[in-house]
Amino acid sequence: MIKLCEKLCREHSLTHEECVRLVRGHNPETDYFLAQQALKLRQLIFGDTVFYRGLIEISSFCKNDCKYCGLRRSNKLAPRYRLSEEEIFSGVEKAYSLNYGTVVLQGGEDAFFSPEYVERIVKEIKRRHPEIVVTLSLGEHSRDVYKLWREAGAQRYLLRHETANKEHYDFLHPKEMSQENRLRALNDIRELGYMTGCGFLVGAPGESVETIADNLMFLQSFKPDMVGIGPFIPATGTPFENESSGSIKETLFLLSVIRLLLPNVYLPATTALATLSSDGYEQGLRAGANVIMPNCSPERVLGKYTIYDGKNIS
Ligand code: 5AD
Repeated sequence: MIKLCEKLCREHSLTHEECVRLVRGHNPETDYFLAQQALKLRQLIFGDTVFYRGLIEISSFCKNDCKYCGLRRSNKLAPRYRLSEEEIFSGVEKAYSLNYGTVVLQGGEDAFFSPEYVERIVKEIKRRHPEIVVTLSLGEHSRDVYKLWREAGAQRYLLRHETANKEHYDFLHPKEMSQENRLRALNDIRELGYMTGCGFLVGAPGESVETIADNLMFLQSFKPDMVGIGPFIPATGTPFENESSGSIKETLFLLSVIRLLLPNVYLPATTALATLSSDGYEQGLRAGANVIMPNCSPERVLGKYTIYDGKNIS
C-alpha cells in the first residue's frame, strides 16, 4: 500500500485499478502519510495561504428533486427564502470589507433568478468592485445562459458532478436529471473560459469503492480548477433522511488524494466537514485543502439554506 502512495506522490496520477486498490486498502498509517505529503505539496505551491471566498446563499428554492438534498422541491419541511438585490449587495460589501477577494453566489435552481436578473446583479457587483472575483454556483443552465453571465463579468463557476458513475448518478437523482446534461454543462462552463469547479459527495447512499475510483478518474481527466467534496449528511424530509453520514476520515483521505492528483487545485475544506466536526476546517486544511468559504448571507436567512441537517453557520 505504501508503494502505491509513493507512486501517487511522485507521479500525481493513478490508474483506475490503482484507485480501487488505494480506496479499498488505505488505513490510518497511509492516511497520515498522504496527508503529510499533500500538505507539503500544498505549501510548496501556495505557501501557507488560505483563500477565503464569501459565500452568499441567494435562494433556497429549487426546481430539482435530488434525493439527498434538503432543498429538493418535494421537501415540504424546507424553509424557503430569496435574497433581495440589496441583501445580495450587502453580502458582497461584507465579503469586501473582510478582504475576501471572491464572492460566490450560490443557490437552488430558482426561476425567479432569471438569466437577465442574475446578469444585472453580476454587472452591478463588478461595477461597484471591479477587482472582486464573481463566482456563480446556480446549477445547470444552457450554454447561452452561462455565456450571458460570463460576458457580464462572472469568472468562476461551481457545479459539482456529484458522482462520476452513471448508475450511481441515476440512483441519486430523479429521472428528469441526467449525468449527460451535468457533464455537458461542465464542459460548456469550461469552454466559455470560467475557472471551473466540480466535486462529489462522500459516503452518499449507493457509494462503493468503484464509484469513488470513478470520481478520482474523472477528476484526473477533467482537470478542474476547483474541487468541492464533503461528507453526505442526511436531511430531514428526504428519501435518505435515515441514512448515515459519510465519514470525516474518508473525506480527509480523499482531500489528500485530490491534492496529490491535482497539485494546483483550489480545494475547500467544506461546511459539511465543519458540520460533522468542530475542527473540521482545520482538519481539512491539514489534509491538503486550501480554501474556506465563510457564509456572508444576511442574518435573516442563516440556518435556512438547509441542504442537510445541522449545517454549520459560523
Ligand atoms: N449532504 C452533503 N452535501 C449535500 N449536498 C446536497 N445535499 C447534501 C447532503 N445531504 C451538496 C451537493 C450539492 C451542494 C449544493 O451540496 O453536492 O452540489
